[in-house]
Amino acid sequence: MENFVAFNPTSLHFGRHILEGLAPTVRQYGDRVLLVYGRGSVKRSGLYDRILRSLKEAELALFEYGGIQPNPVIEDVEAAAAVGREHHVEVVLAVGGGSVIDSAKAIALTIPVSHPAWDFFTGKTTPTKGLPLITVLTLAATGSEMNSIAVISNKEAYYKAPLRSPFAFPKHSFLDPEVTTTVPRDYTAYGVADLIAHCMEVWFGAGDCPMSDRLVLSIIKEAMEAGPLLLTDLRNYDLRSRIMYAATLALNGLTTQGKVSGDWCVHVVGHVLSLLYDVPHGASLTIVYPAWMHFFKDQIGERIALLGSEMFEERLNVDEAISRIENFFIALGCPAKFRDLDIPNLSVDDILEAMEIGKVNGMHLKLKPADYPKLVEMFL
Ligand code: NZQ
Ligand code: ZN
Repeated sequence: MENFVAFNPTSLHFGRHILEGLAPTVRQYGDRVLLVYGRGSVKRSGLYDRILRSLKEAELALFEYGGIQPNPVIEDVEAAAAVGREHHVEVVLAVGGGSVIDSAKAIALTIPVSHPAWDFFTGKTTPTKGLPLITVLTLAATGSEMNSIAVISNKEAYYKAPLRSPFAFPKHSFLDPEVTTTVPRDYTAYGVADLIAHCMEVWFGAGDCPMSDRLVLSIIKEAMEAGPLLLTDLRNYDLRSRIMYAATLALNGLTTQGKVSGDWCVHVVGHVLSLLYDVPHGASLTIVYPAWMHFFKDQIGERIALLGSEMFEERLNVDEAISRIENFFIALGCPAKFRDLDIPNLSVDDILEAMEIGKVNGMHLKLKPADYPKLVEMFL
């Protein structure tokens, strides 16, 4: 087991009626609030009205930036930060899925500085402060609600880039599973796939920590049990709560304690597909993972077979394990190959160029630029 420092300052507020505590919590951090949300689901569900009412009753001054898109872009981060600066906001409140929360993290880091937000993502500057961020999660998938990561696209730079900063952790995240009962079937499935993929990235990462293995297997099994049931009963509170909790645990830092790192190559390739073709994040992972496992099976065949055997509770060889995992994702309703998405203007050259710009690589198993064409061919 590796040495590690555990740090996670996010307070998690989980369960029914938990939003009753939102306004008093926001108030602790200031009176001027920037509310950030997506493209309309919060308005359609009535959540926007509920939150607005409670914040107004608490006499908070509200400013807002709506319209954050899935696979969020840097332009929205800049525009929202400008609104925040203009109104001297003291707190950022994100209401949405991973795209809204990631954007809100970048917005909260950008408001206090005078340089472009993108500088944080290229590493030109490192965040040293940020406005307090509070989130209301509406979609279980990314774990963004309890981690320090933000992933933002810059189409001009041809790069969907991750940022990790201790200043990006939300102060508080409010998770009412009821709020997620309106997530449509496809995004519910992508969320289940994403949380399983987070566990797989850790499973295939560097370093040996049996506790980590046990944790990720437990989270995967929880998702494998509750996920398919949820997809036949989308409004079921108990199933929503099981998936929501599993998704938070899958990427809040817990599972990598005692390891050197996860691998994350599949995520980085997935980001290329999302950048170029707006592929939903979870779907990008179910496309890339089977190909990635086939690509590396000579190096990590035993590890793949062990994962499959544990997941499906029978002894599987490496090829059987890959095919069972792939079929599980397909049964959820996720794509297994890029061609399943029916994207008309696909360009392998564009994918390869974005992979080079993104310096696609794994933190454990190294994928070389010379390997890119083969991997791409395998998942197309
Ligand atoms: O925009 P609105 O109208 O809100 O609709 C969204 C969007 O269309 C909708 N939605 C969200 N909550 C809903 C709902 N629809 C009905 N009812 C609700 N309660 O769902 C769609 C997808 O939302 P999005 O936020 O894009 O999904 P997700 O949570 O999967 O976030 C994906 C983004 O997070 C990044 C991904 O790369 C991607 O950009 N990730 C962030 C990570 C992190 N910060 O740790 C790690 C992940 O691996 C991932 O990279
Ligand atoms: Zn992910």
